[in-house]
Amino acid sequence: MLMVDLNTTKSKIKMVLIGAGNRGRGVFGRYALDNPHKAEYVAVVEPDDEKRAIFGAEHNIPESRRFKASEDFFRKNGKIADAIIIATLETERLNIILGSIDKQYNILVEKPLGCTMEEVLKIADAASRFKEIFVVCHQMRYVAGYDIIKSLIKSGRFGKIIAMQHSENLSYHHMAHSFVRGLFNNDSMTPMILAKSCHDMDIMRYLIDKRPLRVSSFGNLNYFRKENAPEGAPNYCLQGCHEYKNCPYDVQKIYFNENTDPAYIRQMGIVKNNQELFELLRHNQFGRCVFKCNNNVVDHQVVHIEFEDGITGSFQMAGHNYLERRITKLSLTNGEIYFDTNEGLIQASTFAPANEEIIKPAGMESSHMGGDKAIMDAFVDAICTGEKKHIITPVEMSLDSHLMAFAAEKARLNNLVVDINEFESECRKKI
Ligand SMILES: NC(=O)c1ccc[n+]([C@@H]2O[C@H](COP(=O)([O-])OP(=O)(O)OC[C@H]3O[C@@H](n4cnc5c(N)ncnc54)[C@H](O)[C@@H]3O)[C@@H](O)[C@H]2O)c1
Repeated sequence: MLMVDLNTTKSKIKMVLIGAGNRGRGVFGRYALDNPHKAEYVAVVEPDDEKRAIFGAEHNIPESRRFKASEDFFRKNGKIADAIIIATLETERLNIILGSIDKQYNILVEKPLGCTMEEVLKIADAASRFKEIFVVCHQMRYVAGYDIIKSLIKSGRFGKIIAMQHSENLSYHHMAHSFVRGLFNNDSMTPMILAKSCHDMDIMRYLIDKRPLRVSSFGNLNYFRKENAPEGAPNYCLQGCHEYKNCPYDVQKIYFNENTDPAYIRQMGIVKNNQELFELLRHNQFGRCVFKCNNNVVDHQVVHIEFEDGITGSFQMAGHNYLERRITKLSLTNGEIYFDTNEGLIQASTFAPANEEIIKPAGMESSHMGGDKAIMDAFVDAICTGEKKHIITPVEMSLDSHLMAFAAEKARLNNLVVDINEFESECRKKI
């Protein structure tokens, strides 16, 4: 059994990564490489040989601490680090979280917490009894713009919140990559409202700061369907599609662009160069015609939520946009607050005194508008100092945002208004 003396490293933490894919290597791995004074990885668990080897090499992790399976890692080791970062897909959460809780690791786990509400309840219950730090990666709460909005609300100058309008406008290529061709295109794993918009449910819950009571929802898969494929289009773009010049989803436009999101490529595995990428796209899932995928998640959805104190929230997600942006507007008894993440400006106005302020939040340039680094900073600092005040993602609130998402999906599928408390009780009976 490997043991490490944890008492010597309080200005810097030791971490274990579970899942060295796009987020694991690209975001949480990158954090340690960029901040060697704050954190280092001492072990990795990753079933894919190539990804495990690359992560191990990048972080100087000895062979003896590179594991293919989490069961092996937990069985062979005591507590060998301060923290575990869980960046597997949501299909692989429950046992890994329970194993990490059992060994008393501080935990940062990717959202969503699970694929079913029952699974999420089991995890949230275990986490709420847990004494160490448990953070769900709802990094939007740490984005400077939302942080400023939160403090504007708290200032009291704008009065009480009456209503919130919020939208997630996915770019057409992000929609195609992740939710038509990609890893999150099928509700046999997770519905869209959970996979993409549990962040949005969460930010609404966080800013309104009241419990959700009732939810309704509409939405469907309107466009990315077989019948909309150009006549004669092959199954893969690179099989000589005659429409490639006109089609915005043609892989040559999406994946060989200087602005291509590196996360798109990381989700395909270890891709060394464009020639390899080109070969992969001839046959991998990301190379398929967008009208001929096994996708069934919605490409647009609205959700209406009633919160405590009669506050109403409306949310719209749509996958047909040129610019990726979230737009948030709060109506309060003495003012309004408006934020467009693409413009990067907050407009905050009060009625009395009549006043308008324009605020430009700083530090919104890096990954997920700075939220990824900020949430890791908060997690690491909380472990180093033992001070949890900067952890703003309590699991009870994350549970509410998951309830909102699953209830919205139930409402959409069954044409219902879903009562959140009743929904939670029904789900609890099944665990
Ligand atoms: N917070 C955010 O904004 C954000 C953004 C994108 C994705 N995500 C979430 O992050 C998670 C990971 O997404 P991704 O894009 O990195 O996917 P990915 O497929 O690139 O990475 C997942 C990795 O986990 C590995 N894995 C699978 N089973 C495992 C197991 N049992 N033990 C250890 N490793 C295992 C896979 O081989 C893969 O390398 C998902 O839950 C996704 O919803 C969050």
